[in-house]
Amino acid sequence: MANNYLDISGVGITFPTDNGPFCALENVNLRIDEGQFIALIGHSGCGKSTLLNILAGLEQATSGGAILQGQVVDEPGPERAVVFQNHALMPWLTVYQNVELAVKQVFKGRKSKREMREWTEHNLQLVHMEHALDKLPGEISGGMKQRVGIARCLAMQPKVVLMDEPFGALDALTRAHLQDSLMEIHAELGNTVVMITHDVDEAVLLSDRIVMMTNGPAATIGEILEVELPRPRDRLALAENPDFNHVRQQVLKFLYAKQRNPALLEENAAPKETPASEPTPLRAVNDSEAA
Ligand SMILES: Nc1ncnc2c1ncn2[C@@H]1O[C@H](COP(=O)(O)OP(=O)(O)O)[C@@H](O)[C@H]1O
Ligand SMILES: [Mg+2]
Repeated sequence: MANNYLDISGVGITFPTDNGPFCALENVNLRIDEGQFIALIGHSGCGKSTLLNILAGLEQATSGGAILQGQVVDEPGPERAVVFQNHALMPWLTVYQNVELAVKQVFKGRKSKREMREWTEHNLQLVHMEHALDKLPGEISGGMKQRVGIARCLAMQPKVVLMDEPFGALDALTRAHLQDSLMEIHAELGNTVVMITHDVDEAVLLSDRIVMMTNGPAATIGEILEVELPRPRDRLALAENPDFNHVRQQVLKFLYAKQRNPALLEENAAPKETPASEPTPLRAVNDSEAA
């Protein structure tokens, strides 16, 4: 495995706003090895999406930058595919056509028509969507749409998969299925993945390292946790695994003791009966974020 495959150094970004410049990120440094699965976690508004967008080339850092295999990241490219929370499928194209479109973009002239068809079908099989090739996005569930979004991303054979809360809007059961599929796919393909999540269990279950961000403004990386649980990982077995629970506790401690979320505390203090001193239930955080 190559070291420093993806090198993020000194990344800062300041947005011009009506109230003057707003520094969202400051001095973010992270080195990611090839094939690593990184979970990015932090309170809402701390700058996770902004960092991911810089890696995607959708946003330009004001200082510092990212280098992927020696190439400066300064524009979007098919080697860095993004999966957003709300899939963003073309509503007038079928499941098959949505993935085919991406395949054509990347492989036109390099693969024959037949190869492109087989590749499109293969990627839809990876996410278990081969039964719905001719359905329109409006005819399938949110979880299925998200599967198609993942298939579309993987079909581009990206070096780096960037995911912004990909399962955040899904119910717990669908989310669990997709997490399992994602682990299988990652084991098979070995992509480098950076995934933003609000879900502590999801972060521990999936990742090799959990990168925890401080609250903004001028947010940066607060702590990094190594998750050394052996793979393949089984969610049921892990629930009773002391190492799993230790990492989980560490993340919770960071989020709810070291980096308290002022917005969240205010929300709880005002309209609800929950005293501010009570710990905030995690699910509630996820659900309110997803809504
Ligand atoms: N284009 C922009 N202009 C001004 N402020 C922005 C812009 N994009 C993001 N921000 C601000 O930067 C901070 C980080 O946003 P974001 O990356 O979306 O947070 P997260 O994904 O962690 O919830 C927020 O305070 C947000 O309001
Ligand atoms: Mg975000």
